[in-house]
Amino acid sequence: MSQAGAELFPLFLKLRGRAVLLVGGGPVATAKASALADAGARVTVVAPQVTDALALLAQGQGWTVHQRGFVEADVAGAWLAIAAATSDVNRAVAQAAEARQLFVVAVDDPASASAYGAGIVRKAGVTVAISTSGQAPALAGLLREGLEAVLPEDLDAWVGEAARQRAAWRSDGTPMAERRPRLLAALNRLYELRRPDRPPAAMASGGRVTLVGAGPGDPDLLTRRGAERLGDADIVFYDALSSETMRALAPEARWFYVGKRACRQSIAQDTLNRLLIKEAARGRRVVRLKAGDPFVFGRGGEEALALAQAGIPCEVVPGVSSAVAAAALAGIPVTHRGVASAFTVLSGHHEAVYRPVLAGVPRTGATIVVLMGLRQRAAIARYLLQLGWQAETPAAVVLGAATAAAARFVSTVGELASSAASDQTGDDDFSRPGVLVIGEAVALAGEIERAYAAAPRDESARAAEASREGDEEQRDRDRGAGRTEKGSR
Ligand SMILES: C[S@@+](CC[C@H](N)C(=O)[O-])C[C@H]1O[C@@H](n2cnc3c(N)ncnc32)[C@H](O)[C@@H]1O
Repeated sequence: MSQAGAELFPLFLKLRGRAVLLVGGGPVATAKASALADAGARVTVVAPQVTDALALLAQGQGWTVHQRGFVEADVAGAWLAIAAATSDVNRAVAQAAEARQLFVVAVDDPASASAYGAGIVRKAGVTVAISTSGQAPALAGLLREGLEAVLPEDLDAWVGEAARQRAAWRSDGTPMAERRPRLLAALNRLYELRRPDRPPAAMASGGRVTLVGAGPGDPDLLTRRGAERLGDADIVFYDALSSETMRALAPEARWFYVGKRACRQSIAQDTLNRLLIKEAARGRRVVRLKAGDPFVFGRGGEEALALAQAGIPCEVVPGVSSAVAAAALAGIPVTHRGVASAFTVLSGHHEAVYRPVLAGVPRTGATIVVLMGLRQRAAIARYLLQLGWQAETPAAVVLGAATAAAARFVSTVGELASSAASDQTGDDDFSRPGVLVIGEAVALAGEIERAYAAAPRDESARAAEASREGDEEQRDRDRGAGRTEKGSR
């Protein structure tokens, strides 16, 4: 029996509008007829006699009823035959069907069956089918009742959540291995949200969106207000991988990654704006957690405007922007008395955007900080040389500031302009975000970092240091950077 079961290929048939032959007119055939009606099949009933219930159903469904015995030609045009008659008739149906490569469900008659119906549990869009290979329909019935009792009442919420997760996996490109644990965590959260200390009434009012700046990466650099808003959140939309470490601050919230995957935006800005509005309109406390500061190349302004237009209360919690933090953590003061009295922050994404900005920066006494410009670093340096900047002007690449993988490489505009110097970071995969800092103030980096090294370190700084020290490749890079640094000062 187990052998027979193992050979069965389970599947669900879409019968809507399709011709199905039902041979038999007794109570068993009547039960099958009502399941066929649910499936939307176009049924032809063949039987000398049919129950009143079957006659009524057939009339209501507009089905054809031939009140006569089965003939071979009845199987013509059918997608499926169901034989619920005597075993002789069932056998005749099976033979006629076999000749036309048609499957036959012979009810309670495994000898004539090439397909078996299943015991079915249906709840909220979930269908569980049970088969005993036609051997023990009564047991299938018992198992069905047992399963019905076990499945949760709110299975529809499970299905809804699973469908949402699936859509997110597809757009995020979530690897297979991560999907199951993610789904389990998401289903668990359905129940966390219903805990008595988070009554639905609280969710139904006070919906709002807070745009929280997460800082450059280290959770210690999140502001206290940002941490408070996270602790209070029902739902968090985040886009910086570094923000993953902040999950502990909002363990009860549902977290959704909406940032870039493999250099592609995982969700369009319009869609995200609509999501923020929808969740807040449902009374949820939404946190939009963004790297650095929400209003520095973070599209936070667009989100705030969309929320304002939709009449959703919105608040901004500024964050420590990498525009200043990356330089500061690398020992570079973006302004320094007598060295730099201004700094310009720009995006290095497009030449058409960065060129006019760079053209307006004084060639001395100012620091340039380029975000999103690592790939363009040689082109940017070459353009600065064209503008008359000294080739010896110090320039630094700061990668993964405030993370365990932080690194700083000091060079000059001249060296950066040559492609060989551009490759010096060894960061061709750009797995870490980075900024470009250019100007005389960069020359202070080594000295200031020595002062940092002498200061007592807290635990997180020590951990970051330890992780750096353990990274052989990183040490090689640092040694290379040290050489360049010496030459540049
Ligand atoms: C879309 S912008 C977001 C900037 C962010 N709103 C801020 O204020 O820092 C992303 C760019 O910020 C820079 N960035 C963000 N985090 C960084 C970090 N930890 N270290 C270095 N650069 C970082 C990189 O230039 C990256 O390409």
